Amino acid sequence: MRLVVRGGEVVGPDGPVRADVGVEDGRIVVVGPDLEAPGDARIVDATGCWVGPGLVDLHAHLREPGHEEAETIESGARAAARGGYSAVVAMPNTEPALDTAAMVAFVQARGREACVEVAVAGAVTQGRRGELLAPMAEMAALGVRLFTDDGRGVEDPLVLRRAMEYARGLGARIAEHCEDERLAAGGVMHEGALSGRLGLVGRPALAEELMVARDLELARLTGCPLHVMHLSSARALTLVVAARAEGLPVTCEVTPHHLTLDETAVEGYDPLFKVHPPLRPRADVEALVAGLAGGAIDAVATDHAPHAPETKDRTFDEAPPGMLGLEHAAALTLEALGGAAASAAAFFALLSRHPARIAGLDVADPRSGLGAHGGRVAAGEDANLVVFDPRRRWRASREDLASRARNTPYHGRELTGRARALLVAGRVVLDAEELA
Ligand code: DOR
Repeated sequence: MRLVVRGGEVVGPDGPVRADVGVEDGRIVVVGPDLEAPGDARIVDATGCWVGPGLVDLHAHLREPGHEEAETIESGARAAARGGYSAVVAMPNTEPALDTAAMVAFVQARGREACVEVAVAGAVTQGRRGELLAPMAEMAALGVRLFTDDGRGVEDPLVLRRAMEYARGLGARIAEHCEDERLAAGGVMHEGALSGRLGLVGRPALAEELMVARDLELARLTGCPLHVMHLSSARALTLVVAARAEGLPVTCEVTPHHLTLDETAVEGYDPLFKVHPPLRPRADVEALVAGLAGGAIDAVATDHAPHAPETKDRTFDEAPPGMLGLEHAAALTLEALGGAAASAAAFFALLSRHPARIAGLDVADPRSGLGAHGGRVAAGEDANLVVFDPRRRWRASREDLASRARNTPYHGRELTGRARALLVAGRVVLDAEELA
């Protein structure tokens, strides 16, 4: 045994159990109480913490290639590690887009040098223009399991139908940014009484709901697994829940910001609160929080969207949408689940087990070279582990981020819960809250 995670509560199906975890050669070799460690073994202190599978983010914009001034694969991975993530799925809305095998191979190669595992989502269409299908089979041959044009949805239903038919045959899943841009056109916040009062053009919830409804019907027609990204409207959640009850292969994620902020955050016209889909009214936030605890929502995903200060510091109308997520998501999810008293099993289901399954990261894949995530903390499993302190109180700060960007809407907010340590393929990349 080279390493022992000592003194924590290992999160299993029946809740947390006091146990140590022994790790060697990238794998968990033993789990049990009061393990004897050889004198030269490294000890990772987990006292008072949950020890669970490393978190998995289904939705991270790492900006490389094209916008390295905002984030790189390396800096994004460091932000992920501080957040407790052992794996992230990199979004393809880079410049150029990740729409060929060569682009996927480039990000995979950079990802192998990063401190957490980086899975790649491929674009559905060439250049994410929504017209011609990207070579999905060639990307799937490199282990790509999720295809999306995120940043926008696939507007043409025939293009999406064909994409779903191909994706199904490839054993892949289509992830959709559900907002019909023709309905949302020019909108910068949620459409309602508040957008009228603020004099800002609104993006109606209907833009999201219509696209969710259409996509669910295409999933029904094609049998292709559909993943609804950053779901933000209560009505859209109702549609997903009904479709799932009918047996359709649909999953959905919500972001920490749609769980913890509402539309009133934009009253000061601060572009830090501009995001797509937009922050919604309180009733939507409450419906999402209820769906989180009740099992209607499969996963919490960050939509980590770094933007350099010179682009984000513009008027509300002109600034690009998006906010940072990776470094604060776990604490915000815990808050939405009810704080330190929340169930550890629910926390890890939403942030690790389900997202790993949705991204196809629950089994190791020789094509991508990525290990297994989101599994049990048990002998024989890959050592992708987080040590998470659910009672740790701290204050979010834009000065204290591993991300290259600073566009967090949570500066100054009191948080509870923080990753203390992280193992990725058995390597300690975070210990005592410090990156290696
Ligand atoms: O607000 C957003 N920003 N929503 C998206 O879907 C894309 C993202 C980005 O890439 O900045």
